[in-house]
Amino acid sequence: MQPNEPTRRRGAGVEAGPPGAPLAPERELFLAFTRDGRSLIDVTWQQHVLHENRRWSATEFIERIDLAQLTEADRGHVWNAGKAELTTKPGADRLARQFDAECRRHLESNPTVAKIMQACGTWSRYWNEEEAFHEATLNRLSTLLGLEPISDDTFIEYRKLFPDDDALRTLMLLAISEITAAVNYAQCARHASDPGLKALLKQIGADEIQHMNYFVSFAKALVDSGVYPPKGALAVAVFFLREGGDLQGAHRDRIEERGTHVNWWDHIEFDAIGAVDALGKKEALVFNAVERVTGVRVSSLTELEDAWMDMLS
Ligand SMILES: [Fe+2]
Ligand SMILES: [Fe+2]
Repeated sequence: MQPNEPTRRRGAGVEAGPPGAPLAPERELFLAFTRDGRSLIDVTWQQHVLHENRRWSATEFIERIDLAQLTEADRGHVWNAGKAELTTKPGADRLARQFDAECRRHLESNPTVAKIMQACGTWSRYWNEEEAFHEATLNRLSTLLGLEPISDDTFIEYRKLFPDDDALRTLMLLAISEITAAVNYAQCARHASDPGLKALLKQIGADEIQHMNYFVSFAKALVDSGVYPPKGALAVAVFFLREGGDLQGAHRDRIEERGTHVNWWDHIEFDAIGAVDALGKKEALVFNAVERVTGVRVSSLTELEDAWMDMLS
C-alpha cells in the first residue's frame, strides 16, 4: 500500500475458511452444503471476512481527489453514477425480504435450496452496505463539485422496490446489472486523469465485480440443486443481449415506461466517452457468467439463443 493510499481495513488474523482458502465468494455453494457439511454459520463467516477485508473509507477517498482537476466528462460520470447507485438499496432490501420468503417456501421440500436462499438473503446486508458506500461517496462528490442537486422527489422515486420475480431470474438479472456497472466504472476510471478519482472508480468497479461473483455463485447453486432449470438464466441473458435489449441501456430507441421501479441503466444521461458503449466487454462477461451458472458455453447472441431454444423444446 502506498503511504497516501486510502485505508482499506485488513482483518487481522481472520481466515475465510480453512487456512489458505481463497478470500472470494464460495464457488461451489451447493456442494459446500451437501458434500462438505458446511453450515450457514460457516458460510456467513466467509461472507463476513470477505466484506471486512474489502472495506474502504469514503471520506479518505474523497479527500484525495483534486476537485478542480476534474474534467466535464469526469463530473458527468460522477453525477450519473451517484444517481444510479440510489437504486441499489431497494434492490438489496428486496433481496433480503424475497430470499427469506423463498427460504421458508422451500424449507420442507428441499432444505438445501432453503439454505442457499438464506445464504443469499443474509449476504444482502453486506451488499447493501457496500452499495451504500458507492451511493454516499459519489453523491457527496457531486455536492462538493456543485453539480445539479438530486431532488428529494427523485431520491424517493429511485428508492422504489423492484417487483419480485423467480429467484434464478432475479439473481441472473442482478449479476448482469453488476457486470454493466463494473464495465462502466472501468471505462470512466480509464479516462479519469485525476489519480484520486481514478482510484475511487477502480475501487467501486472492483466491488461490483465481487457482487457479480456472489450473484453467479448463488445462481449456480440454485441450478446445481436441480430445482431451478438453467433455461431461466439463459432467458435473462437473452433479454439483455438481444437486439434493442437492456444491455444497450439508455441508447435504446424505445425504453419501457415502468411505474413500479427505476432501472438505473435506462437513465444514464451523460456519456462523454462512450462509457456505456463497451458492449463487447459486457457481452463477454455475460457469456462467462452464463457458463459459470449453467455450464453452457456460448460466444455469440445466436449461440445463446440457440441454447435457450434447445432448452425450451
Ligand atoms: Fe454500486
Ligand atoms: Fe454492486
